[in-house]
Amino acid sequence: MEGKASLLDNMIGVGDMVLLEPLSEDSFLENLKKRFDHNEIYTYIGSVVISMNPYRSLPIYTPEKVEEYRNRNFYELSPHIYALADEAYRSLRDQDKDQCILITGESGAGKTEASKLVMSYVAAVCGKGQEVNKVKEQLLQSNPVLEAFGNAKTVRNDNSSRFGKYMDIEFDFKGDPLGGVISNYLLEKSRVVKQPRGERNFHVFYQLLSGASDETLKKLKLDRDVSKYNYLCLDSASVSGVDDAANFRTVRNAMQIVGFMEDEVQSVLQLVAAVLKLGNIEFKPESRSNGLDESRVKDKNDLKEMCELLGIEQSVLERAFSYRTVEAKSEKVSTTLNVAQAYYARDALAKNLYSRLFSWLVTRINGSIKAQAKTRHKVMGVLDIYGFEIFEDNSFEQFIINYCNEKLQQIFIELTLREEQEEYIREGIEWTNIEYFNNAVICDLMENNQNGILAMLDEECLRPGTVTDETFLDKLNTICAEHQHFESRLSKNSKFLTDHSLPHNCFRIQHYAGKVLYRVEGFVDKNNDLLYRDLSQAMYKANHNLIKQLFPEGSPAKINLKRPPTAGFQFKASVGTLMRNLQTKNPNYIRCIKPNDKKASHIFTESLVCHQVRYLGLMENVRVRRAGYAFRQAYEPCLERYKMLCKKTWPHWKGPARQGVEVLMADLKVPAEEYSYGRSKIFIRNPRTLFFLEERRRQCLQDLAALIQKIYRGWKCRRQFLLMKKSQVVVAAWYRRYAQEKKYKKIKRATTVMQSYARGWQARKLLRQLKHQKRCEEAATTIAAYWHGTQVRREYRKFFRANAGKKIYNFTVQRIIQKYFLNLRKNLPSMSPIDKSWPTRPYSFLDGVHTELRRIFHLWRCKKYRSQFTEEKKAVYEEKLEASKLFKDRKALYPSSVSQSFKGDYLEINKNPKYQKLHSAVDEKVLLADTISKINRANGKGTPRIFLLTKKSVVLADQKTGQVKASVPLLDLASVSVSKQSDGFFALKLKEGSASAVKGDFLLSSERLIEIITKLYRLSAANAERVPLSVDISDEFLVQFKTDKVCVKFIQGSPRNGNSASCKRKNNRLLEVSVPSTP
Ligand SMILES: Nc1ncnc2c1ncn2[C@@H]1O[C@H](COP(=O)(O)OP(=O)(O)O)[C@@H](O)[C@H]1O
Ligand SMILES: [Mg+2]
Repeated sequence: MEGKASLLDNMIGVGDMVLLEPLSEDSFLENLKKRFDHNEIYTYIGSVVISMNPYRSLPIYTPEKVEEYRNRNFYELSPHIYALADEAYRSLRDQDKDQCILITGESGAGKTEASKLVMSYVAAVCGKGQEVNKVKEQLLQSNPVLEAFGNAKTVRNDNSSRFGKYMDIEFDFKGDPLGGVISNYLLEKSRVVKQPRGERNFHVFYQLLSGASDETLKKLKLDRDVSKYNYLCLDSASVSGVDDAANFRTVRNAMQIVGFMEDEVQSVLQLVAAVLKLGNIEFKPESRSNGLDESRVKDKNDLKEMCELLGIEQSVLERAFSYRTVEAKSEKVSTTLNVAQAYYARDALAKNLYSRLFSWLVTRINGSIKAQAKTRHKVMGVLDIYGFEIFEDNSFEQFIINYCNEKLQQIFIELTLREEQEEYIREGIEWTNIEYFNNAVICDLMENNQNGILAMLDEECLRPGTVTDETFLDKLNTICAEHQHFESRLSKNSKFLTDHSLPHNCFRIQHYAGKVLYRVEGFVDKNNDLLYRDLSQAMYKANHNLIKQLFPEGSPAKINLKRPPTAGFQFKASVGTLMRNLQTKNPNYIRCIKPNDKKASHIFTESLVCHQVRYLGLMENVRVRRAGYAFRQAYEPCLERYKMLCKKTWPHWKGPARQGVEVLMADLKVPAEEYSYGRSKIFIRNPRTLFFLEERRRQCLQDLAALIQKIYRGWKCRRQFLLMKKSQVVVAAWYRRYAQEKKYKKIKRATTVMQSYARGWQARKLLRQLKHQKRCEEAATTIAAYWHGTQVRREYRKFFRANAGKKIYNFTVQRIIQKYFLNLRKNLPSMSPIDKSWPTRPYSFLDGVHTELRRIFHLWRCKKYRSQFTEEKKAVYEEKLEASKLFKDRKALYPSSVSQSFKGDYLEINKNPKYQKLHSAVDEKVLLADTISKINRANGKGTPRIFLLTKKSVVLADQKTGQVKASVPLLDLASVSVSKQSDGFFALKLKEGSASAVKGDFLLSSERLIEIITKLYRLSAANAERVPLSVDISDEFLVQFKTDKVCVKFIQGSPRNGNSASCKRKNNRLLEVSVPSTP
């Protein structure tokens, strides 16, 4: 035992029967029952797992459970099939040991389920990956296919395996599955044609009929009604809790996953259908001339359909059911078959067809799942073989099955004992022999080559002459009579003569698992397993690939006159191979027990279980295991578990574990005969000693728990305390800091106030001092300055007085003049020549300069003014100047003319079309053109006339018509007279004697008098040949009117006469012009 043996903890009953105390059958059963009642279906005997069938699903196969048991030591957790699977898988993977898992038990005890659980566990824990998963899936999915074809409902089990199965799963060095190989053992083919009451044929028939689609059924020429088929028993066509239709789909799916091609599946189904059809073929007798009956097929329809399905020629098969050809050497003898023989032939064909199909399926699956890689691999074999069977009516099949179980028991005994023995030797413990029942004798009875039952059966079958089951029994009676396990009524052993429980046609064998009564009927036939050659030849001829393969002996090329090996012989050989195979592997046992015969959960039938416990030899198993020593454990885990029982080893042992255990045992005063020291393990003889240790440990653990609790509580409280203390320190620190800070701030504030007062006072004091000091310094400076001044003045007075006055005077005058010029420059009047302003003179001594500067400035600005004149403007100004010379201060009208511009041509004579005629009349350039008034000489009234002035003459013209009234050459003009007043009257006086003087002088009036006369004057002045025209200005002048001289007198008129001057003829001599007084 390794690891923590917690198998010892919290167990219901005892988890390992080896520890049962006291060990008796009753206590054994008691323990099983107790555990079973608590749903603990697994119990150990050492490393063997006992599994009770719970007949209901328990929640102990979940993925969580898988994880729980994964990579844990076998005894670490409560007993479970997973622990065994894990142990096997790990020692396969890690220690490179091939494993086999041997599952035994009677029919319905849960072997097949157990094998599936082991496989699913291994699949769950081994490697993952796409390829690996595919392999796993194929391995797992091979089960439903084989179960459909090889399992059937029996009275003991609704899903009973009717074949033996051994599956090698192959792994690579990493423990990843590579593939597998399945071996099958002896299918119970008699079931195909006949089933005991309450049982069914193989599942596949029912699954096909209820699960296949109508179309498929039609193709297979089948009817969904089960009752139509002779081979399918009616009374239990359906099994409660089993959905055949759904299972059919599962099987189809599984076949696909495993790798069956669609046409292969179809062929398989055709064969299954053919078997059903075959069962429906019936025969009738037909009398022959020789008095013998010959069989004929009754209703040929089924035969026809079957032949169609398999592609067989109907007549060939039909003949094969009526005749039998026996070949001996080169002779061929054909005999007819009677009806019974025909039925026999039919059933033989059906059985063979089915069992060969089954074998083919296994081969086919192997083809799919076999490991691809040729590398060396490790193997885990799982054996799920039919369990020991005792029926009311036991025949050849039961004999064979039980033989197999005997062999398994044999190997179990051998291996367990051998292992036990090896361990003792390995550990150097003295081996004491123990008594147990060795079933080798029974095996010998059955398989001995000379006088074994199987050998004799073969001998009978091969013997020439009439051979019947009775002759076989007779033979047994003679040869085996003395064997202590063989019983027969007619044997030489007289003690059975009166045994009425033993019928005459039976023999009984005392198997290790109980007595079984075999009826000899059918032994010979079944052993011969005879199929008439005509039938196998007919099958070979079929136009159907699969059928052809299944009946190779029908090939004409392979005519073999030798008998095929008998069924018994074949089976013995294959069991022999299997046993040899198993012996090379490390065995792991699962021993299945069924708790009741009713397939019911929660029922524990003690007698039944007791029986199984007995024949499975479980008690012996325990005894062997306890032979000498009931319990063993490696030193390290043992010391680990019990070290607290001794002060020297607790809590730590420094030396080697073995010494520690020795000290421990000595300290506990365990009697020396109660244990032995192996090389790596301690062996304890009596479970009582172990329980003593356990009890002490339990008490000690309580104390230790209290101690741990105490220390833990102390630790926890202390931790809490320390935490609080630390917290308190932190809080206090923070508070103190806060308080100190507050206090400090207050003091600081107060200090600042005080400081500020003190500093203020100091500063003010200092300021006062500084101010005083400054005043003193200023006073001193002033005094010093004055004093200094006084001294300097006193010293320099003599130099200062001599020429100071002159210098000051000059300086002052210069300053004044300078100031005057600068001021004058600043206050110069404008550049307009008419601007009369001039700054006033500041000092009278500057009078001359001031006037002179004024004159110069005026001249300079006039010059400036003039220099910007154009020629025309200059002419205008010359004219204006002339006017000024003539009239300024002489005539009151003059000032009003100053602002007038002397335009000259006011009528625009050459532009206005009205005056075109007039213009053409005057050939010279018109210098002046205006409308004026011509004063009538008679009454003094004015008439408007156009007045034109050219270079040479003066022209008067009618204002409206433009007709020239008078034209006077300028040379004829003597003078011009005007008044001093503001009127516009003027008189043009002609030279006496001139041509123009004839009419007399002209008295005219114009507002532009100044311009007209100025122009006239300038014209005359321009002419160098004559004296300039004189202009007389006087308020009284004479005018020559034709002959008369008239005086024109200007008087100051009163305002009532209006604003304009008015002229009036007073008398011949006087023309009075009243001029309104100028305001
Ligand atoms: N571990 C188990 N948990 C639940 N039911 C079980 C278990 N083992 C067996 N059974 C039931 O018992 C029936 C028979 O088991 P099976 O393995 O076919 O028996 P065997 O192969 O030994 O004849 C199963 O169909 C199942 O209903
Ligand atoms: Mg089974």
